[in-house]
Amino acid sequence: MASLGELVAGIAHEINNPLTGILMYANMFADDKRLDENQREDAQTIVHETKRCADIVKRLLDFSRTSIPDKRLKSLSQIMESTLALVTHHATVNDVEIVCHYGVNLPDIDVDPTQMEQVFINLLVNACHAMPTGGRLTITIRTDSKRDRLITTIEDTGQGISEENLGRIFDPFFTTKNQELDGVAGTGLGLSVSYGIIENHGGQISVQSVIGHGTVFTIELPIMSLMRTFEETDLPGNVSTV
Ligand SMILES: Nc1ncnc2c1ncn2[C@@H]1O[C@H](COP(=O)(O)OP(=O)(O)OP(=O)(O)O)[C@@H](O)[C@H]1O
Ligand SMILES: [Mg+2]
Repeated sequence: MASLGELVAGIAHEINNPLTGILMYANMFADDKRLDENQREDAQTIVHETKRCADIVKRLLDFSRTSIPDKRLKSLSQIMESTLALVTHHATVNDVEIVCHYGVNLPDIDVDPTQMEQVFINLLVNACHAMPTGGRLTITIRTDSKRDRLITTIEDTGQGISEENLGRIFDPFFTTKNQELDGVAGTGLGLSVSYGIIENHGGQISVQSVIGHGTVFTIELPIMSLMRTFEETDLPGNVSTV
């Protein structure tokens, strides 16, 4: 994974510069008043597709940067809330209801907040993609019975993942998303990046899915022993519906 990350970073960096040039000229071209309607549409397609390449390159760079986390004590539910704020609009437009259950007095946890936000956004966006005609997204954060791990589950009522694909979804570049068929394109990096981040935090990420019913991703993260002083009462503690 480490050498793949370096290779990817190198390629992505090299591609980024010419791509910026192409995008700049394509934009100028698309605005050229001498073009007729058809030519203008063609130029817009060049701009659109170039932006898509730039987006893939950005994701590749994100992928290669999942190295050493810059950890500090943070509230995981607060990180989840600020991430949710980014996807709520998209979810509402797509008829996705979001329900959150946070345990009471959850201890802060030693995490890189930016990286954790990246994991949550990947999982939330995937869940929304799995429910194109709407559904329910249920997010739970609680401690385990021994109070030495924080457990986050992100559950959707989407299309589910086939048995065959379940073993491959964390592989870099594995994607089933297709721009023409689904209206969204995937690079297949979201879950492999997330897997790397959780592993670098000493945690685990796992998945359970039933085709046609939905998918649950579970993230377990260690709680530092000195933070385990708070008591957590039974779920549902704080129930908030976004
Ligand atoms: N909640 C989910 N429900 C159904 N399938 C999922 C879910 N999350 C992930 N998958 C499957 O796992 C694949 C890999 O997910 P991953 O996030 O790594 O890549 P992607 O979403 O396809 O592309 P990217 O995240 O790079 O834009 C997806 O293409 C999809 O087939
Ligand atoms: Mg994804």
